[in-house]
Amino acid sequence: MPNIRERDREVIWHPYTPMKAWPEAIAIVKGEGVWLIDEDGNRYIDAISSWWVNLHGHSHPHIAQKVSEQAAVLEHCIFAGFTHEPAVRLAERLLEILPGKPSKIFYSDNGSTAAEVAIKMSLQYWNNKGLKKKRLVALQNAYHGDTFGAMAVSGRSVFTEAFTDFLFDVAFIPFPGTGNEAASIAALETLLQQGDVAAFIAEPLVQGSAGMCMYSPATLDAFFGLCKKYNALIIADEVMTGFGRTGSLFACDQIRTAPDMVTLSKGLTGGAMPLGVTACSQEIFDAFYDDDRTKMLYHGHSFTANPTICAAALASLDLLLQDSCTESRARIVKAHKAFAQTISTHRAIAEVRQTGTIIAIEFKTDTPSYHHSMRDVMYRFFISKKIVLRPIGNVIYLLPPYCISNEELEYVYASIREFLEQL
Ligand SMILES: Cc1ncc(COP(=O)(O)O)c(C=O)c1O
Repeated sequence: MPNIRERDREVIWHPYTPMKAWPEAIAIVKGEGVWLIDEDGNRYIDAISSWWVNLHGHSHPHIAQKVSEQAAVLEHCIFAGFTHEPAVRLAERLLEILPGKPSKIFYSDNGSTAAEVAIKMSLQYWNNKGLKKKRLVALQNAYHGDTFGAMAVSGRSVFTEAFTDFLFDVAFIPFPGTGNEAASIAALETLLQQGDVAAFIAEPLVQGSAGMCMYSPATLDAFFGLCKKYNALIIADEVMTGFGRTGSLFACDQIRTAPDMVTLSKGLTGGAMPLGVTACSQEIFDAFYDDDRTKMLYHGHSFTANPTICAAALASLDLLLQDSCTESRARIVKAHKAFAQTISTHRAIAEVRQTGTIIAIEFKTDTPSYHHSMRDVMYRFFISKKIVLRPIGNVIYLLPPYCISNEELEYVYASIREFLEQL
C-alpha cells in the first residue's frame, strides 16, 4: 500500500501551492501541543500555528472533549428559524469581550465569508437607509480572503491578478508604515470628504499576508476617528489579529475608537475547526429590522453556527481567558523582544518587527515578491530543522501557539541564528 504522501499526489490539489514545483506534501498523522508528527515519525514545531489558527496546541484535550460531547448530542441543525445553546452561549461570550461592545453576532464559515458578510452588511446598511454610499476603502496590500468580495477589498497582487476585471472598484490608501502615517491618514480623509464611503476595512495593527507589515495604534485610531467623523462604517478584520496575537485580546483593544463591525475566524475555535463571525453594532442590526422584508440580510451558509464547531470555540475561550494563557502570551512577547535585539543588526536583515506574539524578519533584497527565490530556500532550511515556517517572499515570521515552551522557542530562535550565519 502506498503511503499517504504518495496517495496524496494522485488525488489532491493543495491550497496556495505551485503543484508542479511542490508535488510532495508532508503527511501528518498526529498533532500534540506545538508538534505535528508525520507518517515517518518526524516531529515538526508548528511555529506559524498552522496558518495562524492554532492557539493552545494541537488536539487539545479540553477542546477535543467538548467537541466530542457536542457531536454526540446535536452535531448540526439548520440555523434559520432554529437556534441552539452553543451558538447563543458563544455569541454571549464573544459580545462580552469584543472591542466596541457590539450587539449582534452573525455566523459564517471562515475568514473570507466573515469579510463577505461585513461587506454586504455595510453596503446594504446604507441602501436600507436610502443613502447613496457605495464606495469601500481599504489599505494597500491588505488581505481579507479569497472569495470575490474579500478579494475585491484586498490589495491587487499576484493573488488577484487573474480576476482583476471581475473585482468591483475599491479605493486603496497607502500603507501607513513608519514615516508614511500622515500621508495615509490624509489619503483616507480626502476619500471620506467625498461623502460616498460606505465602509473602511482594515487588518488592525498587522497586515498578515502582506508579510506581517505593522503599523501603530495611533494611526489605526486616527483612521477610525476619521471614519466616525465622516459617517463611514468601520470593519476591523481581526481574523488574524484576534484572540491575543497582538498582545491585547484584540488589536482594537489598543485604541479608543470602536469599529462598527469585527470579523473573526482562525483562533476563534482555537484552530480546531472552521468558523466565521461578523459582529456588528445595534445600529447596523436596526437598519435591517423592518416590516419591509426586502431589508433583511440575504446571506447564510448551510453550516451556519454548526453546534459542534461552536462547542470548540467555547472550549477555546475557556482556555484563552485563563490567567495561565495570558501569562504564556506575555512570556512569548518578552522572549521575542530579547531575540529581536540579538539579530536586528545582522547585515542580511532589513528589519525585525514585532507586535505582541508576532515577530517578523525581513531580509534585504532589491526585488521583494511573494515568489522571491529566498522563500523556498528558507522554507526548506527550516523544514530540515523540523520547524514549520512558511516565509512570505523575503519575510519569515513566528506566530506560535501559546503553549510553546521556552525551550521550543529557543530551538526555533537558534535555528534562525544558524540560518543567518550561513548567509
Ligand atoms: C486578515 C485576514 N482576513 C481574512 C482571511 C481569510 O480567512 P480564511 O482563510 O479563513 O478564509 C485571512 C486569512 O489568512 C486573514 O489573514
